[in-house]
Amino acid sequence: MRIGFVQLAPVLGNRQTTIARLDRLFASVGAADLLVLPELCNSGYHFSSRQQAWETSEEISDSVFVRYLESVCAARNLYLVSGLNERDGGDLYNSAVLVGPRGYVGRYRKLHLFMDEKDYFRPGDGLPVLDIGACRVGMLVCFDWIFPEAWRILALKGADVVCHPANLVLPFAQRAVPVHALTNRFYTVTANRVGQEGDLVFTGCSTIADIQGNVLLQASESEERVGVVDVDVALARDKRITPRNDVLRDRRTDQYELLLRG
Ligand code: ACM
Repeated sequence: MRIGFVQLAPVLGNRQTTIARLDRLFASVGAADLLVLPELCNSGYHFSSRQQAWETSEEISDSVFVRYLESVCAARNLYLVSGLNERDGGDLYNSAVLVGPRGYVGRYRKLHLFMDEKDYFRPGDGLPVLDIGACRVGMLVCFDWIFPEAWRILALKGADVVCHPANLVLPFAQRAVPVHALTNRFYTVTANRVGQEGDLVFTGCSTIADIQGNVLLQASESEERVGVVDVDVALARDKRITPRNDVLRDRRTDQYELLLRG
């Protein structure tokens, strides 16, 4: 299976320019089965007000951006995961949507909001794993990276590939996420954005890691590009790290009660 990232600079408040950039990048891609785009790809990130966050949001059922993703998936016979500034009634969520050749499949809403996101978005609930035939897809968004519990739950639910749209401003996740790939024995794709919005500089270096935590591909800090690698999904279904150790079955859940207390 061929999985990858699309690293670009979405344009704050200018969806059409972002779509034009994506069109240019998709034109450069060979065959791929599953590609991941950055966080809040339909809106940009660094809102100046709640009003700007609101005006740049979209309901999934009425989203120009999701319809665009659906058209790309249908034309290229692939699946896309993208960050989306999602409106639902009077609320906004920092979401990731999964779209495929037959249209919208499902969504995840970011659980752990970062800095000023707390002023605009409601935190989500639920960690879905969605089966697309070639693999089972889990999703996390950006700052979720620092919470190992979320990655582990996706492993327990059977994720083979965790798609991680990001707008990282710190340089740590690109090193930490491959460790989550290793400890859970699944593949990870962090699709980070590049560029600058106001005083925020995004750190690029989108990364694909394998089940041993090896970095299979990493972009530079600033380039707009698509990166794709071939992976063997069957490897993510064997959780044995030695003949006598299985990273899920060997857990001592009787000792982890403290994790469930707030
Ligand atoms: C982040 O969660 N966008 C850093």
